[in-house]
Amino acid sequence: MSSLEGFLCFFLVSVLISILHKLWWKPARMQKLMASQGIKGPSYKLVYGNTKEISSMKKETMSSPKSLSHDILSHVLPHFHWWTNVYGKYFLQWHGSQPQLVIRDPELCKEILQNKDRAYPKLKIKDYPKKLVGDSVLTTPEYEKWTKLRKLANHAFHGENLKGMLPAMVASAESMLERWKNYEGKEIEVFEEFKLMTSEVISKTAFGSSYLEGKLIFELLMKLCFFAFKNFYTVRFPGMSKFYKTSDEIETEKIEKALHNSVMEIIKKREEKAILRNGEEDRFGSDYLGLLLKAHHDADDKQRISVEDLINECKAFYFAGQETTTVLLAWTVLLLAIHADWQEKARKEVLQIFGERTPNADGISKLKTMSMILNESLRLYPPVVSISRTVNKESRLGKFMVPVNLELVIPILALHHEPEFWGPDAQLFKPDRFSDGVAKATNNNMGAFMPFGIGPRTCAGINFVANEAKVALSMILQRYSFSLSPAYIHSPFQLLTLRPRHGVQVILHPLVDCP
Ligand code: HEM
Repeated sequence: MSSLEGFLCFFLVSVLISILHKLWWKPARMQKLMASQGIKGPSYKLVYGNTKEISSMKKETMSSPKSLSHDILSHVLPHFHWWTNVYGKYFLQWHGSQPQLVIRDPELCKEILQNKDRAYPKLKIKDYPKKLVGDSVLTTPEYEKWTKLRKLANHAFHGENLKGMLPAMVASAESMLERWKNYEGKEIEVFEEFKLMTSEVISKTAFGSSYLEGKLIFELLMKLCFFAFKNFYTVRFPGMSKFYKTSDEIETEKIEKALHNSVMEIIKKREEKAILRNGEEDRFGSDYLGLLLKAHHDADDKQRISVEDLINECKAFYFAGQETTTVLLAWTVLLLAIHADWQEKARKEVLQIFGERTPNADGISKLKTMSMILNESLRLYPPVVSISRTVNKESRLGKFMVPVNLELVIPILALHHEPEFWGPDAQLFKPDRFSDGVAKATNNNMGAFMPFGIGPRTCAGINFVANEAKVALSMILQRYSFSLSPAYIHSPFQLLTLRPRHGVQVILHPLVDCP
């Protein structure tokens, strides 16, 4: 055997050993370790883990119609539902060769998200989701990078800055309601309507651009979202895409480039404006884009952010700012269309506080019934159905020892529907369960309600969403009552966020004397 042949032989054997180590030995060891602590789960299948079973369970439930009930866990996440019934509160499932510990225990979930030793960071984002939102404040596991970016987001979306965004929110809701005049007495599909409105709001408030400028960005993000969803349960050998790309990978690379260019255009426009305002304190502007650009041009390299960070932040906020709020509004309108008594209570409160006037900051803080309705909507239909963390050092989590690289899955939707914490009426729409706050509603299991996450990485847009949703709903309730259209088909499904698969159709009834 020549030395080249010997080397090749050695190389092939090493590759084979490392593949077997990753795909067979490590999963077998992990299963044994977890089983020794009483944690079981569906058995690991070579290469695919449980992805094929999960996909087929999801396909099956999607193809069968769903009755108009809020008991949606078995429809949206059938595998969580089924495996909890079989294995209990904690079970081990496999995404390819990646072990995932699913935890339906609010105390442990809280411990993971609030951990002070930083033992459970976010997972390093890769593949399709990376193309969508990049390594940004939303996703980055790096603590130093996150603190820098989170400071900027907090500054842009809090206090006076947030108040200053109200007129833009009102104006976008007004232009949506102008369109609604064409649907009076008729059916309207509100999911698409809210998509337009929330896109306009985030474009204007965070990036100072019009909806039209942001339109292409949203379209490209939605395409990436579709591919991310389509390939979520696809398993590929690590590094394979360096040698062979699937048609989806080629297509998404093109979309990612187009997205990069569109975001760059908005950034360049703002930089050109800043050149004309050279010398002024606020030359980049005071919105989120302005703060990002200021950080990008910061003389202090510790504070400075790279162009790539700048672009990723823009992508992440266009995505986070629009998609989640759209689904929250759509589900809330559905719930109010079904529960006319709560729609009436909400309208009464809005008319008492604002009369026919446009919503303002002071009044928004007094909308108690509406806050209860939004909480109940977020409980039954949380836009983000689950979140994950990874273990970066072996740690004690409750009674378990969790090893490095184990993924921890927090199933928000399951926690929100658990009768153990919410009572036997957990599947019913009852906003008054929140009348004395979240602690009372959850029977002091605060971890049982986390539509925005918990701990340091709680949603940075929480107050922004509350304002936007309250402005839009108040202005709708001031003008219209609405009932569910017979055309509506109940089919909640997860396409990154929890969406109404066929939209939400309601019939609009104009109120007499509306503004
Ligand atoms: C109903 C609407 C929304 C829901 C339900 C929601 C939900 C969430 C959740 C569950 C997380 C935590 C993820 C985790 O811990 O892994 C999160 C994080 C985040 N959200 Fe939201 N979100 C909403 C709207 C928004 C909006 C409108 C914005 C921006 C304007 C936004 C920006 C962010 C950011 C930047 C983070 C990352 C925070 C960090 O890691 O420090 N979100 N959101």
